[in-house]
Amino acid sequence: MNIKKVHIKTWGCQMNVYDSQRMADVLAPLGYAETAEIADADVVILNTCHIREKATEKVFSEIGRMRVHKRAKEKSGGKMAFAVAGCVAQAEGEEILRRDKDVNMVIGSQAYHQLPEMIANWESANGKSRVINTDFPVEPKFDFMPAAQAARGISAYVAVQEGCDKFCSFCVVPYTRGAEYSRPAADIIAEVKNQIAHGAREVNLLGQNVNAWHGAGTDGKTWDLGTLMFHLAELDGLDRIRYVTSHPNDMHDMLYRAHAEIPQLMPYLHLPIQNGSDKILAAMNRKHTQDSYRRIIDRMRDVRPDMAFSSDFIVGFPGETDADHRATMDIVEYVGYAAAYSFKYSRRPGTPAAKAGKQVAENIKDARLQELQKKLYADQTAFNAAKLGLTFPVLFESRGRMDGQLQGKSAWLQTVNVIAPERLLGQIMDVKITTATQNSLTGEIVTIAPQSQPSIHAA
Ligand code: SAH
Ligand code: SF4
Ligand code: F3S
Repeated sequence: MNIKKVHIKTWGCQMNVYDSQRMADVLAPLGYAETAEIADADVVILNTCHIREKATEKVFSEIGRMRVHKRAKEKSGGKMAFAVAGCVAQAEGEEILRRDKDVNMVIGSQAYHQLPEMIANWESANGKSRVINTDFPVEPKFDFMPAAQAARGISAYVAVQEGCDKFCSFCVVPYTRGAEYSRPAADIIAEVKNQIAHGAREVNLLGQNVNAWHGAGTDGKTWDLGTLMFHLAELDGLDRIRYVTSHPNDMHDMLYRAHAEIPQLMPYLHLPIQNGSDKILAAMNRKHTQDSYRRIIDRMRDVRPDMAFSSDFIVGFPGETDADHRATMDIVEYVGYAAAYSFKYSRRPGTPAAKAGKQVAENIKDARLQELQKKLYADQTAFNAAKLGLTFPVLFESRGRMDGQLQGKSAWLQTVNVIAPERLLGQIMDVKITTATQNSLTGEIVTIAPQSQPSIHAA
């Protein structure tokens, strides 16, 4: 088979990273290998994000940049297929096709299993075809994807749930990803096993609302995410389990139990609250309050005292007052986040909040974001500094930036840089922490034998 090349560029969330890996899997049987060099590529795929205005703008400027490569390729007698996939494709596919004659394919978030057909058509039309597929098919795309999957590294992403039925008033995801779907447990377990066979030691279960996952179990019953984790914990060779992103309204008893009882489940919960004000939360259609969120944090800390938390925040949602912003600062103070993402509200066409009258002025958004981030970064720095002098297990996931260094992760998702031989990649070692900054830790290996997981502190 003659080797052809695909270049995939990815923006957005972990789900998009996963999707890009799956697109590569879909194209592999057609003889396409991935390349990091755009100029070498026969097919270029931009896997895009629509979440904020800035993310979408980036896509249109990137399309312009790609055109240069396409022209150069055509000049030398070759051809290049140009595809736009992901959430911008889903939301603005028609517009992209109309605006840019160089785009050959627009592939929505639920249609990428049809890439082979689209590329075959493009090949037989000698590079002239232009198609769009942004359907939400009745049969999930997962059922049509090849069982053969490439390695996704020591820490592998596996999608378990996709889509969203929550319709937060600011958010495009329910429109770009479609309705909530949970993959059957058997498929997930097979995919995790496959990744373990490829060298993965950790799995990151992905979903737009991952803790809403409720899929067919292997025993014929419907399982929740906590139950799925108990089954994954039985797999040989799987040392760590993580999951993202959870929604406060989908916390369930089995998930708390999983954190109390499963040593492989890392003590880390990304639980976006978005805002601290009950008035703003109601306007966001979040259907939880600051107090109900606090109770989740308290209960998690009860079952797992060393639990670390992270969140997403939006400042400057329409109607947000200084008092509302204080409430956001209050919840940050209460939780003491290990990490967080914070954004200025971005008005998204087609979402209910975009039509709200009282948009907050840009300079006020800026000031609030600055105040919030100052506090979040200070908390993150303090969280890291609290690890100084401690010794705990680190999973080595990649080569470090400096020669002779490996980069690993603590149980609490901190990056840890350690001087260590490359043969320790994929191993969990006890590391003593010697320096801590806002973004990472540095440490030294204290033993040369692989260590077990941290012990559970409570039940
Ligand atoms: N499903 C997840 C996150 C989805 S999007 C959840 O429910 O929390 C990731 C983050 O982007 C959101 O948590 C939110 O903080 C941010 N975001 C989404 N829409 C936004 C908008 N219109 N403006 C600014 N930030 C936004
Ligand atoms: Fe967006 Fe809300 Fe769904 Fe998260 S839960 S994806 S923020 S609509
Ligand atoms: Fe962006 Fe789509 Fe993910 S809008 S954040 S890539 S679900």
